[in-house]
Amino acid sequence: MLRQLLRKGAVEVEGAPERSPLPRERLGHYPRLHTAHPTRWEFPAYLDNPGCQWLQAIKALYAEPITFPASLSPEAGLMLHGLIRNLQPRLVIEVGTFCSVSTHWMVSALLENGYAPGRASEGGAEIHCFDDFGPIRKGPWRDVEMLKGREGWVSDRLTRAGLREYVTLHPGNSSDRIAATRDRLGELGGVDFAFIDGDHTIPGAVADLRAVEPVLNTGGYVLLHDTFPDQCGEHLGPRHILDHVHEVAGGLYEQVELYLSPLNYGMGLLRRVG
Ligand SMILES: C[S@@+](CC[C@H](N)C(=O)[O-])C[C@H]1O[C@@H](n2cnc3c(N)ncnc32)[C@H](O)[C@@H]1O
Repeated sequence: MLRQLLRKGAVEVEGAPERSPLPRERLGHYPRLHTAHPTRWEFPAYLDNPGCQWLQAIKALYAEPITFPASLSPEAGLMLHGLIRNLQPRLVIEVGTFCSVSTHWMVSALLENGYAPGRASEGGAEIHCFDDFGPIRKGPWRDVEMLKGREGWVSDRLTRAGLREYVTLHPGNSSDRIAATRDRLGELGGVDFAFIDGDHTIPGAVADLRAVEPVLNTGGYVLLHDTFPDQCGEHLGPRHILDHVHEVAGGLYEQVELYLSPLNYGMGLLRRVG
């Protein structure tokens, strides 16, 4: 009976004799990129609100060719914003700021949550961003580059958006810088939400997770980007963490896979349960 249901693409959990997960590609809803690859971001017209400073700032970021394709898409950014609005973390860390698109989506949510900037331990909210802020070179789908000055560029964009006060930038190797900042993060009450989108190699992604874990609160979340290597290129680290979380991590996690549009690079949301 179960086999017949699986063959039709349906999964019936109740009463099923076995509960082993299906391979991802056999799940009922696994969208792949089936249109021509976009060449720039389309900012949705329904978000184009001239009365909202931070939305106008995000719109301007998406119009910068340098933000394509390595930044979160508007649709994925909206989801990230929605997670922060719903989960209401006080202390957030971001690994991999790049041109600060994902930063803008998260900090704008802290602002909309009504939290004062800074002092996460005293009822405010803050985000600590870790990135090497090194040169961005031309690459697939990117004909422009930013060889220097990225940290200042990011700081300026956050200021224009009215979001700068929430953000502390930590330039350098992310896992080293997180380790160096850990005592401070602990004093602030521990990390409630960590968005990891930096070094996508297996050792690099695992090092970032391990650097955060000692100050990741139980009940806190880790969001990984670029979890479908068959969609997003040879980025194996985030996928490796999802598939081997109980070997590479010190804590216990429950997890869910999230599909993304229009480029299904994928996300994995982990919640620490022990
Ligand atoms: C894919 S981009 C992040 C995109 C960004 N989260 C967004 O959605 O707008 C990855 C970033 O991680 C940075 N990075 C890669 N390896 C790193 C490392 N070991 N330490 C610090 N930053 C690193 C890169 O310079 C780049 O800015």
